[in-house]
Amino acid sequence: MIRELVRITRTVRRFQEQRTLDPALLRQWIDCARLGGSARNAQVLKYMLLTEARQRQALFPLLGWAGYLAEWPGPAPGERPSAYMVCLQDKGLACGADKEVYCDLGIATQNFLLAAAEQGVFGCRIGAFSSQAVHRLLQLDDDYEVLLIIALGYPAEMVSLREVGPDGDIRYWRDQQGGHHVPKRPLAALLLDPPAF
Ligand SMILES: Cc1cc2nc3c(=O)[nH]c(=O)nc-3n(C[C@H](O)[C@H](O)[C@H](O)COP(=O)(O)O)c2cc1C
Repeated sequence: MIRELVRITRTVRRFQEQRTLDPALLRQWIDCARLGGSARNAQVLKYMLLTEARQRQALFPLLGWAGYLAEWPGPAPGERPSAYMVCLQDKGLACGADKEVYCDLGIATQNFLLAAAEQGVFGCRIGAFSSQAVHRLLQLDDDYEVLLIIALGYPAEMVSLREVGPDGDIRYWRDQQGGHHVPKRPLAALLLDPPAF
């Protein structure tokens, strides 16, 4: 059921690093990203997969992890991602406003992550990276802009949904056993009544 798939498709940041990801599966999930809607059907997004150990080691130090977990420096060796998908904008292709590209990106990455979750693989979207450093590492030409990076792997942590309390605190947190908890605002708090007219 789609609701259950959406519910389990949580951000995961600790992985079973030694479990490799089948490249055919990764390509299948990118195919799901490809089929999403895009403004003007311009399809300006491109993708790059990094799976080799040397590539992963070079990319890892350029990424920022879990800003709310101030004491946590990010996944330790052995629990780092097994692969990365880099999402790029091909600026050589005609497109509209920036906000449209980011809308396309949300659609594409959610399609990707839902397809991955269905097969037991989870990920973390990473927007905290030095785009110049990543651009250089990936030897991209000026037609490409790196928009987002998705870290991927089989999970090595439990993630649970919580409800945002009356204090309105939306920060995720870890319990003593290492379980990760993600507060979501209740539905009633998001549904606005239309005016009478
Ligand atoms: C556009 C975007 C950028 C994000 N960037 C980061 C990031 O740089 N580092 C990180 O650890 N998590 C990042 N996240 C993950 C969010 O922290 C996560 O989605 C949020 O805590 C809610 O958890 P959930 O995805 O399980 O609902 C990002 C998420 C989105 C949508």
